[in-house]
Amino acid sequence: MSVAVEFRNVTKEYGPVRVLHGVGFALQPGRVYGLLGENGAGKSTLMKILAGYESPTTGEILIDGAVRAPAGGSRAAEAQGIVLIHQEFNLAEDLTIAQNIFLGHEIRKGLFLDDRAMREQTRAALAKVGLPLDPDTRVRKLIVAEKQLVEIARALARHARLLIMDEPTATLTPGETERLFALMAGLKAAGVTIIYISHKLDEVERTTDEVIVMRDGQLVAREATASVTRRQMANLMVGRELADLFPEKLPAPDGAPAMRVRGLTVPGWAEDIDFEVRRGEILGFAGLVGAGRTELFEGLLGLRPRTAGELELAGQPVQVRSPRDAARHGLTYLSEDRKGKGLHVHFGLRPNLTLMALERYASPWLRPADEEAALRDAVQEFGIRTGSLEVRASSLSGGNQQKLALAKVLHPGPSVVVLDEPTRGVDVGAKREIYHLVQRLAAQGLAVIVISSELMELIGLCHRVAVMRAGRLQTTLQAPHLTEEELIVHATGTR
Ligand SMILES: Nc1ncnc2c1ncn2[C@@H]1O[C@H](COP(=O)(O)OP(=O)(O)OP(=O)(O)O)[C@@H](O)[C@H]1O
Ligand SMILES: [Mg+2]
Repeated sequence: MSVAVEFRNVTKEYGPVRVLHGVGFALQPGRVYGLLGENGAGKSTLMKILAGYESPTTGEILIDGAVRAPAGGSRAAEAQGIVLIHQEFNLAEDLTIAQNIFLGHEIRKGLFLDDRAMREQTRAALAKVGLPLDPDTRVRKLIVAEKQLVEIARALARHARLLIMDEPTATLTPGETERLFALMAGLKAAGVTIIYISHKLDEVERTTDEVIVMRDGQLVAREATASVTRRQMANLMVGRELADLFPEKLPAPDGAPAMRVRGLTVPGWAEDIDFEVRRGEILGFAGLVGAGRTELFEGLLGLRPRTAGELELAGQPVQVRSPRDAARHGLTYLSEDRKGKGLHVHFGLRPNLTLMALERYASPWLRPADEEAALRDAVQEFGIRTGSLEVRASSLSGGNQQKLALAKVLHPGPSVVVLDEPTRGVDVGAKREIYHLVQRLAAQGLAVIVISSELMELIGLCHRVAVMRAGRLQTTLQAPHLTEEELIVHATGTR
C-alpha cells in the first residue's frame, strides 16, 4: 500500500524564468506532510511534477527507490498510485460528475462502457465526501464548494497510495472540512502518504506529522509539526519575523451612506434585505456557506435575477443591470469564484487588469503605454509575483491570481467595493498586506464590504458585521458584541 518518494535536485524553468532551484527531499510512507510556502514559492509546481502533469527541467524523482521514467504523464503517475487534487480545479465543466470521476479510467463491460457501475461507484465516492448529488449532474451546474468535493471524490476513486491535496479546504464549510479530516485520518491509517498544502496554519497544525517549508523555489525548513508553533511556521515561510496581522482599527465613520440597499430580494437566495455602508467604513458579511451572501451581491450587480429592491449610491437612486453598469456608478465586486467569474485566465495580465475600466483607456483610443504603466503599478502595489508581465493569468500561482483579481476591481477607482473572500488561497504575509490595503482604502474614504468565512478576519478588520442565515439578514454586530461566539450564534441560529 505505502509508497516512498524522493526528489533529487529537481529544477523547473518556464522559458527564462526559473521556478524551482534544485529541490531535494524524501518522504516516508504513511505519513502526513504539510507543504508550506508563500504564494509563488513553487508548491503547486513541485506537486504537478510529482503527479506527472509537468516534467522537471532537470533532476529526478524516485518512487519506491526506482527513478521514474520522464514523460509518463499523469496517467503513469496515477498507475503508481500518485494522485493530485488540483488547487485550480481540473474538471471538465460540460461532462457529468460520473464522467469526470472516470475520465480516462472508464469501466468497461466487454466492448461497452459500464455506465451503471460507474454511476454506482460515483454515488459511493460522493457519499464519502458528503455530497448527495445525482452522478449525472453536469459539473457546470455546481457551486465552487461542490466542485471541490467532486475533485476530492475523484481522487478517492483512484485508490491513491500518495494523495496530494492542494488547498482542498479553501472553499469548504467547517462541517465539510471536518469530514475531510476524518477521511484523511482513515487514509493515513490505511498506509496512504498525504501531502497537504494549505495557508490555513491551524489546519496544518492539526492534520500533519511534519511540515516542509519552501521559499523562492527551494526547501528552507523541515520540522516535526509538534515542535513548531503557527507563528514559527509563518516566519519560516516569509523568512522574517511577521508583525501583527491586523492594522489598528480606525474610528467608525458617521457621515452619509455611500451605498444604501432597500428590500433587495434575489429569489431562492436572499429576501427583503436592507443595509447601508458609509464612506470610510468596513462592513463585514458573515454567514455559513449557502446563507446567500454571495448571491445577494450577485443579485445587486445584475449577475442574478432580482425581483425587488432599490439601490442608492452617494444618495442617488441607480439602476444596475451588469457589473459594467455598477462600475460606471462607482461600485465594483470581487467574485469569490476567481476562475469562473473573476479572471479570464487564458488572457494576459494586462486585459485582466483593465477590462472593467475599458472606457478610461478606450477614449479617445486605447493607449497601450497607459495600460502598461497601470499593470506595472498594480504588480508593485499588490506584490504580484510573476517572472514576466507577458504571461497569461493562468500561469500565476493561485494566491497571485487572487491579488490580480483584487487589483482588477480596484483599478476603476470605485467608491464602494465588495470583496468576496478576498484572502482565499493567499499566504499569511500577503493576507496581512491585504488587510492593511483594505484599511488604507477605507481611510481614503472608500466604503468597503468584506464577505468572509473566516470569522477572525471579520472581527479583526470590520467596524460592523452583518450576519446572514438562510437568505435573511439576522442582525448587525459591532463592538463589543462583535465576537466569535455571537457571530456563530446568529449564523447558525443556535445557542
Ligand atoms: N506555466 C507557467 N508559466 C510561467 N510561470 C509559471 C507557470 N506556472 C507557474 N509559474 C510560476 O511559478 C511560480 C511558482 O508557482 P506555484 O503555482 O508553484 O506557486 P505556489 O507555491 O503553489 O503558490 P500559491 O500559494 O499561490 O498557490 C510562480 O511565480 C508562477 O508564476
Ligand atoms: Mg499553489
